[in-house]
Amino acid sequence: MSLREKIDFSNLPVHVAIIMDGNGRWAKKKLLPRNLGHTNGVKTAKNIVELARSINIKVLTLYAFSTENWKRPEEEISGLMWLLKKYLKSELATMQKNNISFRVIGDISKFPEDIIAEIKNVCEKTKNNDAMIFNFALNYGSRQEILRAVKNIIDKKIDTPSEQDISDNLYTAGQPDPDLLIRTSGEMRISNFLLWQIAYSEIYITDVLWPDFSDEEFYKAIIAYQQRERRFGGI
Ligand code: FPP
Repeated sequence: MSLREKIDFSNLPVHVAIIMDGNGRWAKKKLLPRNLGHTNGVKTAKNIVELARSINIKVLTLYAFSTENWKRPEEEISGLMWLLKKYLKSELATMQKNNISFRVIGDISKFPEDIIAEIKNVCEKTKNNDAMIFNFALNYGSRQEILRAVKNIIDKKIDTPSEQDISDNLYTAGQPDPDLLIRTSGEMRISNFLLWQIAYSEIYITDVLWPDFSDEEFYKAIIAYQQRERRFGGI
């Protein structure tokens, strides 16, 4: 029986969020420069977006660039920006074909202008697609997101905010919280990702490095999720 056949398609996670980690280590292991790790990481991201869509995941969130990633060498950052631009240009057609709505979560205001224009273009052109939401976390930090929500709530003069008010003012407003959070390359950390939204998410950590995260690895994560008993604080 193949892994795919082991999936219960009536009990899929609605929202899957992924911390894509290990591009650097993948390159190092193969004695390649780090940027080739990222290039192969992009290939994996493309594949996982299409795979998630094909098995009917409704929301996919990928952590591509954190607020802390600016600490990396300038050369690595500019390489990532270049990859991002190329990715956006090449994937627009795929997103249209697959009816995927592309969104960005994070503060992209400090990004190079040409990249901001490209991001806006893809968001605008795909905004009415409704088979899957694909959130791309760029210059994303969860504490910054929560602080921004609090500031929005103050601006709106909401006197006694509820949990719903916080959710409604996050980048992910209107979306279901992640059911499954995957992190590759074995690190046991959340790294400031979706802190509010993952309150009840199932966490799956694999030692596989992101460029090696294949269809089979994605299926394994879903199968592991389906074997968990979710209690949401109940018994
Ligand atoms: C983690 O590997 C990955 C990142 C910091 C971001 C890069 C993500 C991608 C290349 C996927 C798609 C992105 C774009 C821009 C289209 P790491 O460098 O932290 O690996 P390490 O921990 O092994 O050094």
